[in-house]
Amino acid sequence: MNNVSALCGALLLSLSLSISAEPLVVIKFSHVVASSTPKGKAAEFFAKRADELTKGKVKVEVYPNSALYKDKEEMEALQMGSVQMLAPSLAKFGPLGVKEFEAFDFPFIFDDTADLHKITQGQIGAGLLAKLEPKGIKGLSFWDNGFKSFSANTPIKSPADLKAKKMRIQSSKVLDEEMRSVGALPQVMAFSEVYQALSTGVVDGTENPISNFYTQKMHEVQKHLTLTNHGYLGYAVIVNKKFWDELPADIRSKLEQAMKEATIYANKIAQEENDNALAEVRKSGKTEVYTPTKEERMAFKKAMAPVHSKMADRVGADLLNSIYKETGFDPSKL
Ligand code: LMR
Repeated sequence: MNNVSALCGALLLSLSLSISAEPLVVIKFSHVVASSTPKGKAAEFFAKRADELTKGKVKVEVYPNSALYKDKEEMEALQMGSVQMLAPSLAKFGPLGVKEFEAFDFPFIFDDTADLHKITQGQIGAGLLAKLEPKGIKGLSFWDNGFKSFSANTPIKSPADLKAKKMRIQSSKVLDEEMRSVGALPQVMAFSEVYQALSTGVVDGTENPISNFYTQKMHEVQKHLTLTNHGYLGYAVIVNKKFWDELPADIRSKLEQAMKEATIYANKIAQEENDNALAEVRKSGKTEVYTPTKEERMAFKKAMAPVHSKMADRVGADLLNSIYKETGFDPSKL
């Protein structure tokens, strides 16, 4: 009899384990960068915390490196509900019809991360995320990557060095104008295609935070990298709104908590990951890394200053002015 009840107990236990091990909700989280980047690591962190906080009820499946979708397709897939979560770069919201996110792309608009956080962690950031709702998208958070640098196969010390160079950009019209301001020829291209395009000469150069540059092996196909830090690249973590709204309230609040923690984590590691990537690029010996002098950097700043007035209407002058007010940036003083 004892044996029978022990057997029943074991059966019940394994049954309840298998029931609780079965996730209630599966979130497909697609992104385009390597797992070892700030975004890749933060996505994994979110998945882990979501699992822990919901005791296995939510399984977040992370698909890195454009394994599921490329830049443009992932936005469509989110709206259609084929994936539930993304973290696209802020430069990629234009095609969705939310051009205001391109405010982050204005050259030199943020001096540093502290400046940036005044926007992403304040009222302006919250207002930007709210603009996604009519598109069927809920914006959950901003995650940092970092500041971009120019690369090419020839040295870049002055704006003139970019003249007539075919430069890959993200889909932002502000970035298009940024490249034109220095006489470069911008070419919009999906992130997954950049390495190939650089190695075959379809484009001559690009701009990226170093974590992206290194993890896509661009150092193998770009001889020169100049640490211009001329613009920012970061992310908005977004979900399909209908999916999010229909989650059981207790699950949703646990996911909000997981997202809060993942955001702290993302923003803590971003700079460190970029620093490490830069050390690796230097170590590879394949790309010459150049740090511009103060005067050289100022020459880029001056050359790109007209982008601000030219593209103000694209994002709205009010929004741009409210950002200047927070950061103290004044392009007319250049
Ligand atoms: C790019 O396309 O260069 C970046 O947006 C990739 C990314 O997600 O960091």
